[in-house]
Amino acid sequence: MKAYFINRYQKAPATLTEVAEPMVGDDDVLVQVAAAGLNHLDLRIKSGELKLLVPYQFPLILGHDVAGTVVAVGSNVRDFQVGDEVFARPRDGRIGAFAEKIAICQDDVAKKPANVSMTDAAGLPLVALTAWQALVEIAKIQAGQKVLIHAGAGGVGSVAIALAKHLGAIVATTTSTANVDFVKNLGADVVIDYKKQHFADVLQDYDVVLNSLDEKTLLDSLQVLKQGGCLISISGPPTPEYAKQAGLNKLLQGVMWLLSYKVRRACRQKQVDYQFLFMKASGGQLAKIAQLVEKGHVTPQTQEVYAFDEIAAAFAKLQTGRTRGKIVVAMRN
Ligand SMILES: NC(=O)c1ccc[n+]([C@@H]2O[C@H](COP(=O)([O-])OP(=O)(O)OC[C@H]3O[C@@H](n4cnc5c(N)ncnc54)[C@H](OP(=O)(O)O)[C@@H]3O)[C@@H](O)[C@H]2O)c1
Repeated sequence: MKAYFINRYQKAPATLTEVAEPMVGDDDVLVQVAAAGLNHLDLRIKSGELKLLVPYQFPLILGHDVAGTVVAVGSNVRDFQVGDEVFARPRDGRIGAFAEKIAICQDDVAKKPANVSMTDAAGLPLVALTAWQALVEIAKIQAGQKVLIHAGAGGVGSVAIALAKHLGAIVATTTSTANVDFVKNLGADVVIDYKKQHFADVLQDYDVVLNSLDEKTLLDSLQVLKQGGCLISISGPPTPEYAKQAGLNKLLQGVMWLLSYKVRRACRQKQVDYQFLFMKASGGQLAKIAQLVEKGHVTPQTQEVYAFDEIAAAFAKLQTGRTRGKIVVAMRN
């Protein structure tokens, strides 16, 4: 089968090559890939930036988001059968969505929402799970709470706005002038055009902030949070608690203690809880997200679909940092 893989960490695009089909373990479903979503995580893994956090062996097929059809199942698989249309964010250590087929642990897979296309479904898993784990698992958002979601027009931001609205929150978001109407249409109640205003001059007494931007934005976000609020960052810095949970060694736990010292100290002074999130695969959560999609509470925001062999151009677009929603590559059948 054809797949995009790397033989070493590199900045250059991955190579499209013939590789052997994946082995199907007892707990795996083998998925014929229809479409795969692009994420910054693919680029960070490819360049080696995350090699201490998420180490991989080579050759490595990239790709963290997939939608497709089950073509085989392992002997322990009960909930999926050949012909099922599914979507998944395969777990760390077992990525490989940029291929004609991928074997995924059944625990990471969910049935695709029936009302969306394969390309729309392929853009959802990683960003929707990130939003779920931030807003439902960590923040435990209650109706009426005030939530600031930075970069509302992006992949994570666009789904996080919809999820926070579904949970009953009052949602503020930051975006550029060009995307003000886009985020309003997603349901944002308060839109801060960062070209014209600084969010900290406008917002106050927020319960939760979801940060996906730089450290200055993270620290400025403290100004809008109320005492007892929750600051969640998906763009770092990682905390020693995260390092421990992730099973990283004492040295890395120490590095993360140092990296996050400034923000943790600032949060302590303001009596705000700081949490770093590195999202995890979860078929169970993805099944709940699929229900939200089927009920119309969350709508996939696919900006552009590229052909599989145009993946380098698709990543170049993602790297502009100016995309709305998701970029997806589709297989030609
Ligand atoms: N830790 C985790 O588990 C995890 C999971 C998912 C993603 N991430 C990370 O989170 C970050 C966001 O991911 P993503 O997939 O959402 O990225 P993305 O889709 O590429 O985000 C692009 C969006 O960011 C907006 N943006 C850029 N600068 C902005 C600013 N200063 N203020 C407000 N909006 C701004 C842009 O809107 P405008 O054009 O309007 O500026 C654009 O719509 C990435 O660094 C990614 O690696 C981490």
